[in-house]
Amino acid sequence: MSIASQMLEYFRRKSKAILGGGEKAIEKQVSLGKLTARDRITTLLDQESFHEYDLFVEHKCSDFNMDKKQLPADGVITGTGKISGFPICVYAQDFTVAGGSLGLMHARKITKIMDHAMKLGLPLIGINDSGGARIQEGVNSLAGYGEIFFRNTQASGVIPQISVILGPCAGGAVYSPALTDFVFVVDKISKMFITGPEVIKTVLGEEISMEELGGARVQTEISGNAHFFAHTEEECFEQIKKLVTFIPWNNRKRPDPFPPKPPKPEYDIDSIIPVNPRQPYDVRDLIRGICDDSDFFEIQEHWAANIVIGFARLNGETVGVVGNQPLVLAGVLDVDSSDKAARFIRFCDAFNIPLITFVDLPGYLPGVDQEHAGVIRHGAKILYAYSEATVPKVTVILRKAYGGGYIAMCSRHLGADFVFAWPSAEIAVMGPEGAANIIFRNEIAKADDPDAVRQQKVLEYTEKFANPYIAAANGHVDAVIGPTETRDFLIHAIEISRSKTELRPERKHGIPPF
Ligand code: HXC
Repeated sequence: MSIASQMLEYFRRKSKAILGGGEKAIEKQVSLGKLTARDRITTLLDQESFHEYDLFVEHKCSDFNMDKKQLPADGVITGTGKISGFPICVYAQDFTVAGGSLGLMHARKITKIMDHAMKLGLPLIGINDSGGARIQEGVNSLAGYGEIFFRNTQASGVIPQISVILGPCAGGAVYSPALTDFVFVVDKISKMFITGPEVIKTVLGEEISMEELGGARVQTEISGNAHFFAHTEEECFEQIKKLVTFIPWNNRKRPDPFPPKPPKPEYDIDSIIPVNPRQPYDVRDLIRGICDDSDFFEIQEHWAANIVIGFARLNGETVGVVGNQPLVLAGVLDVDSSDKAARFIRFCDAFNIPLITFVDLPGYLPGVDQEHAGVIRHGAKILYAYSEATVPKVTVILRKAYGGGYIAMCSRHLGADFVFAWPSAEIAVMGPEGAANIIFRNEIAKADDPDAVRQQKVLEYTEKFANPYIAAANGHVDAVIGPTETRDFLIHAIEISRSKTELRPERKHGIPPF
């Protein structure tokens, strides 16, 4: 064969494979407001940066007439490329080819690119759009899933793993995203569930739509399975592009520094906390008043909003921020907020990202519901995560730091390297009202005017204990600082902690309260 005809044959095969499931299937995909798998990759990655592998992989199944079916690229596109110059490994399931269903070779393409990501020390981005296990391939499809889950677990804490749900992701297929670090969903397009509406109808007799069961809003607001919500695929890709600027390639590197920028002047740090200690405020305004360019990249914004987590920069360096949110449930810790914060803390610790914690909470949420939902076990996760973390840990106590909440929010006792407190900080076993009612119970009960005595005792207790100075006198707080001094103290603390090393006992692994 001449070189010209070899090239012709190459282009013929390539263009056929690239067309995926064909024009009709592509039309259907586009009519649903979805991009094709290939367009998703090219939209997400830097222009001309995508390099594809295994385009000519074919399935080996011959059951159910599968030997007569050609499935281009076996329904998944894999390769490497760059996002804003940042190298990544990527795969995208192609729903136009047999519904993006996962057979053995489809899975092997994914596990191969996962192995590359691990060897090269690069983040992995998986774009999911699939009907799940390819039914015709039976146990081989299940084997494929198992091999992906195994690699997700091996890669955890070694390379960042990002899942994008851009179509159905049903049955056991959801467990690969669940094992990864960040899950992105898009309104009306993403559907995640273990058992679909038909099974629910058969088993439980209940009617529910896919959207109500596991749509994007459900996964970002109710279940907390997803971390980022977008209205369109393009918006979702912008979110991913932003995320990768904050994280390192792998656990042996640090995130790339950015040119430092001061916060924007509209965030007046002095006036964010109200004078009345019972009045709430938005802790995100405070974070924006401190971080570079007031740019706070929030994660899981719509779930467990009583705690706020996300990335920001201080003097150009990425930091992970955790803050109680007084606007929601007074910022208490509960089952979901403990889960949310603990996982984020572990991500930051694994990927060399210093942790900044802003504290203002009355403690753990009391109540039968919380106790029965396991607030003991879930609440312990945040204690475990902070105690385990060896990255630089800096804590700022803004206002209330009561009881277990004080300890849990990265106190000195859990290994914070620096603890700063604002003059408004109240560090105590509990709030003044509760404390006065307990310790002065007899005195109040015997008084001619119990209310007046109670008020006086509350005042006494507040003056004596509800301030940062007793904690500072005991060395539990390193410095009492004013709001406008905070950015400088944080930047300095992070800068001098760059070479921090802290060893933990040798062991196979700890046993966190999962
Ligand atoms: C083989 C599949 C498939 C699958 C879809 N297709 N899912 N082929 N195995 N799992 C094929 C369809 O036959 C069809 O092929 C094409 O993909 C497009 O599918 P449609 O049904 O036309 O698309 P749509 O109407 O949009 O519906 C999408 C869907 C539906 C909701 C995902 O296809 C569906 O319910 N599929 C089955 C889902 C499922 O039960 N999966 C197994 C889950 S169990 P043609 O040739 O007609 O175009 C599982 C276990 C994993 O995943 C365990 C891991 C531990």
